Amino acid sequence: MYSDIEKVLISDEDIKKRVKVLGREISRDYKDKFPLFVCILRGAFVFLADLVREIDIPISIDFMAISSYGGKTESSGQVKILKDLDTPIEDRHVLIVEDIIDTGLTMDAVTRLLKTRNPKSIKICALLDKVERRIVNNIKVDYYGFRIPNSFVVGYGLDYEEKYRNLPYIGILKEKVYKGGSDK
Ligand code: IMP
Ligand code: MG
Repeated sequence: MYSDIEKVLISDEDIKKRVKVLGREISRDYKDKFPLFVCILRGAFVFLADLVREIDIPISIDFMAISSYGGKTESSGQVKILKDLDTPIEDRHVLIVEDIIDTGLTMDAVTRLLKTRNPKSIKICALLDKVERRIVNNIKVDYYGFRIPNSFVVGYGLDYEEKYRNLPYIGILKEKVYKGGSDK
């Protein structure tokens, strides 16, 4: 598995430090607001688990599963809700927790859908932001961990064909792995 990684882009220590800072900011901004954290499955589960342990105010958590890539590295432009929230969000402060914003198509679809349910507010917290790749330009990433260049990354929850989610760091995947290399 490790031999498929070109290089470590963000180490586990750096992620930890940054997540602590995000946790402090979010705790301050949402004090007395009892926000609902909406974790976008599956990629954001590791980030969510670390982030919520840096939050020192009352929150609640729910999960939503979306499919956007279907196994490839390019966005399909199609977003499918595989699992919806169990929690009503009317009058709640919603914070969407996502692994990475790439083209922005996924977040655009998710925020549009959630807005129809009349939340009090809706914001986005993404661990990674690939700004260069944005197609939907009106997406505001309210909290982000790191801005990264346009490479395909895996680890810390992010996958390629469901692999590598368990790596403790964010690594750049060797191109040959997704461009039909031999030692997959
Ligand atoms: P978007 O709709 O193009 O913004 O893509 C968002 C989704 O694509 C993320 O939630 C990820 O699941 C996936 N994605 C985008 N870039 C990467 C990457 O570099 N590695 C792994 N997954 C990615
Ligand atoms: Mg995802």
